Amino acid sequence: MTPLLALSSGTVAAIVVIVVIDLFAIFFGLSFARSRRAQRQADAAASAAILGEPAPPAPKPVSRREFFRRSLVASVLVFSAEFGGATLAFLWPNLRGGFGSVINAGKLDDILAFINDNDLPFYSGTGRFYIVKYNGKPEGDVDYAAEGVTAEGIMPLYQRCVHLGCRVPFCQQSQWFECPCHGSKYNTAGEYKLGPAPHGLDRFKVTVSETGDVLVDTAEVILGPPRGADTIKDPPSGPFCVAVQ
Ligand code: FES
Repeated sequence: MTPLLALSSGTVAAIVVIVVIDLFAIFFGLSFARSRRAQRQADAAASAAILGEPAPPAPKPVSRREFFRRSLVASVLVFSAEFGGATLAFLWPNLRGGFGSVINAGKLDDILAFINDNDLPFYSGTGRFYIVKYNGKPEGDVDYAAEGVTAEGIMPLYQRCVHLGCRVPFCQQSQWFECPCHGSKYNTAGEYKLGPAPHGLDRFKVTVSETGDVLVDTAEVILGPPRGADTIKDPPSGPFCVAVQ
């Protein structure tokens, strides 16, 4: 990681603010120097008139139109600097390992231990995904996990409901994902089961490094399997958390 990428979003925002303040200081400093120079030239002209000497060339006056034009240009420059800085600060986490980049979810052994011990998928708030155990079988000629969305028996699922985007929690009693907004339900593999969702939960690509780190690429969303896909044949384990609508 380069030193620049090592900066936090707060540091970047502070740098931008300092730059903006500096721009203001330079702008007003130049304006002040110009007015002082004009004042000195006016004083010199008055002295020359008293002594009967030829007057030095008079400073070119700034017209009202020119003043407003310069003010407008300065305002646009300052606004652009602030907007650009704010945008950069907003996007900075994506450059440093936030959602939208490759996220290290942790060691494979730890993730599997969490899933086995708690009967829950592993959840990454930073990456907005769940990791589930997955050993589904292709259906006919179609392998819904062929796009690199599985590795070492695990699969990351995007937390976003594919109906209208609500975050989908996991229901421990049914062992399915159940959306609280309109009741869509997905099995443990994120395959569509019930409700208005048009297909299964979307996925992300995953790899496991030589050191056992689980790396999930959240830059690209892989479309979930279509309705009807059922590679794990896993009915709900108990009552639903969200009533069927
Ligand atoms: S947003 Fe999930 S069912 Fe509508």
